[in-house]
Amino acid sequence: MTKWSPNSWRNKPIEQVPAYPDQAALAEVEARMATYPPLVFAGEARKLKRQLATVADGEGFLLQGGDCAESFAEHGADNIRDFFRVFLQMAVVLTFGGAQPVVKVGRIAGQFAKPRSSDIEAKGEVSLPSYRGDIINGIDFTEGSRTPDPARQDMAYRQSAATLNLLRAFAQGGFANLENVHKWMVGFIADSPQGERYQALADRISETMDFMRAIGINAESHPSLRETDFYTSHEALLLGYEEALTRVDSTSGEWYATSGHMIWIGDRTRQPDHAHVEYCRGVKNPLGLKCGPSLEPDGLLRLIDALNPENEAGRLTLIARFGADMVEDNLPKLIRAVEKEGRKVVWSCDPMHGNTISLNGYKTRPFDRILQEVEGFFAVHRAEGTHPGGIHIEMTGKNVTECTGGARAISADDLHDRYHTHCDPRLNADQALELAFLVAELLKKDAAAHPQKKVAAL
Ligand code: TRP
Ligand code: MN
Repeated sequence: MTKWSPNSWRNKPIEQVPAYPDQAALAEVEARMATYPPLVFAGEARKLKRQLATVADGEGFLLQGGDCAESFAEHGADNIRDFFRVFLQMAVVLTFGGAQPVVKVGRIAGQFAKPRSSDIEAKGEVSLPSYRGDIINGIDFTEGSRTPDPARQDMAYRQSAATLNLLRAFAQGGFANLENVHKWMVGFIADSPQGERYQALADRISETMDFMRAIGINAESHPSLRETDFYTSHEALLLGYEEALTRVDSTSGEWYATSGHMIWIGDRTRQPDHAHVEYCRGVKNPLGLKCGPSLEPDGLLRLIDALNPENEAGRLTLIARFGADMVEDNLPKLIRAVEKEGRKVVWSCDPMHGNTISLNGYKTRPFDRILQEVEGFFAVHRAEGTHPGGIHIEMTGKNVTECTGGARAISADDLHDRYHTHCDPRLNADQALELAFLVAELLKKDAAAHPQKKVAAL
């Protein structure tokens, strides 16, 4: 393999590149951003990698979720807080249900760039560049808005910094206190039409909390009850931006992407000899790789060779996104290839991207299909004797109507009501938490099937 540098991707074929009209302006923004402070510290990325290594060893669960695409227009404290509130509740439910540590990674503070199936969007007589995410162009269907603007990268960096700042405060400053999180969950159950189904698990968490309090284990005496580790992630799609934020870690002398703790490669940009794989192979962060129906076992092994040649546990998370009907046909052959070669990976399930349909002119995803893909994913792992290591979902803390179904049964006719996404349909707060309860039941079954499994702490 040839020598890697933060810009060696520039010599490779590349997909999904925006057509910036002013290349000099682009170069100027990239050069300026290369002088900005990093958003994350390499030591944090290493800590996340260690936590993911325990998941790869079968002793933890990865919860990764957030918007399909963050937007400039919806950048506010309420959105961040509401997202984090649901995310933490999901984490508690999964920790308790699975009796294993949950590694918490948001699709947030950097998730701005979107791959598109077509470069052009046509409406009637008018053809304009497709919307590629707020870091590149605007969603409004006008020439001005759709023209890629490099100054948007600066905005995305600043928004990411502000979002990350608030999340760090929430994670460490008391908001993530288990007692709080548990109270929110009790409120959710009281309001949920499916509440009875979740009551038993919630009652057991309540009892556990009461017991701990009775024996003097509380948030004052045990900081781990009021703090949590929360990490950020996004698709490393816009490589000029990533390159500008790539830095040498002074403690290890190694290169890190400092735009977020974890980055992933999308299903459309994972060609082994192309630019996105080239960039990602050289940074030491934990990496995700989206695995869709067109990925064959040999292709996967080739990608693993490129991205994790030293077979380091925690380095690589394989994010399966096949669709409810395809997961049981497609996943086993990939798992077998990985197992046969002894590769250490985390297997995570993205039950969103293979289950998108169109209803009443809206892109949507039926909740039962999402659940069905997760169930299929767990069933395959049970049959193969491997660890179902996580889920990767698109969600929001707001009460949107973008995915159909769920306990509050959103119908095709409800979609128009609060359809706010800038890209793909997200689970709303209730649907996301409901999914966590259902996954917790699957995790419990999995634990019952492996009674000898150790419980690790992060
Ligand atoms: N620190 C532990 C953890 O992160 C326990 C914890 C504290 C927690 N607050 C939390 C777990 C909120 C989930 C959600 O796992
Ligand atoms: Mn998406």
